[in-house]
Amino acid sequence: AKEPVRVLVTGAAGQIGYALVPMIARGVMLGSDQPVILHMLDIPPAAEALDGVKMELVDAAFPLLKGVVATIDVVEACTGVNIAIMVGGFPRKEGMERKDVMSKNVSIYKSQASALEKHAAPNCKVLVVANPANTNALILKEFAPSIPAKNITCLTRLDHNRALGQISERLNVHVSDVKNAIIWGNHSSTQYPDVNHATVKTPSGEKPVRELVKDDAWLNGEFITTVQQRGAAIIKARKLSSALSAASSACDHIRDWVLGTPQGTWVSMGVYSDGSYNVPAGLIYSFPVICKNGEWSIVQGLNIDEFSRKKLDLTAEELTEEKALAYSCLS
Ligand code: NAI
Repeated sequence: AKEPVRVLVTGAAGQIGYALVPMIARGVMLGSDQPVILHMLDIPPAAEALDGVKMELVDAAFPLLKGVVATIDVVEACTGVNIAIMVGGFPRKEGMERKDVMSKNVSIYKSQASALEKHAAPNCKVLVVANPANTNALILKEFAPSIPAKNITCLTRLDHNRALGQISERLNVHVSDVKNAIIWGNHSSTQYPDVNHATVKTPSGEKPVRELVKDDAWLNGEFITTVQQRGAAIIKARKLSSALSAASSACDHIRDWVLGTPQGTWVSMGVYSDGSYNVPAGLIYSFPVICKNGEWSIVQGLNIDEFSRKKLDLTAEELTEEKALAYSCLS
């Protein structure tokens, strides 16, 4: 039998946490033959709710779940973890300045970075979900220098899946037949959902999305804004942010990273930029990646037209500004 993998979920008493932990315990993230031990962290005001989640995990009698650690102690939460899903953070409240939210999250990610660096298992893989996701991941990377930069990522898979979903609805095809969309840049409304290389499986072979949709105005306009604004549309409809789809996409992100992407398929991940596609090095930026043997690599050599170039640069500029704002909160 396989050794259990320890998976940390921070902010586990929150709504994404509540959707995510049962998925992990069912094997959605790491496979139906992989036992897991869940580590759940939250803060004192949520301690009682966190205990309630632990009670429900016991009650659900998951065969793969070999243990649950529910704690408000960051060291206990981080000890020995192989995978860390960082969902906890400080939300933007009405009337708050961007800088105030950033400052709260910078201090959270700085201290959690140190705890992970000291106490997590070697080669721990980190996925930051909490917003501002890219910049929180960057701060985590900066303050956990002994964790390899390639192990620190942020979630843009939800945006990627949203792009596939929009194409599937438009063409009335199954979403699993659509692949190779790309989310470039920030997990924010400046992200660039790009379908210039995306394809659809049809009875007569794989066809480019552009050829099938035959409506460049929609692809260059409404499609992009729908994906960019989807989070806000869900909040408007549900009065709560997207939790089910965020949790599911977090599982997709880790599963593909650990177990590999299917042959011929790439996915989007926020990763530490090496300067590929002339994106400034040193940002956490979403790129198309393939994964193999537990490591991602950026898909190289894709043609970037002028329209796309502008959009790649715009979202990079926003991330550069966010980085500067985050650093100004440190001093
Ligand atoms: P929520 O407010 O329901 O849950 C957040 C939880 O984090 C709360 O239980 C809170 O007590 C906890 N928390 C706060 N500070 C903490 C700390 N220092 N350590 C540990 N836990 C802490 O929020 P929800 O809806 O679950 O969303 C979580 C985050 O995910 C938000 O930042 C949200 O903006 C982000 N998000 C990101 C998405 C993505 O695609 N990257 C998609 C949807 C949401």
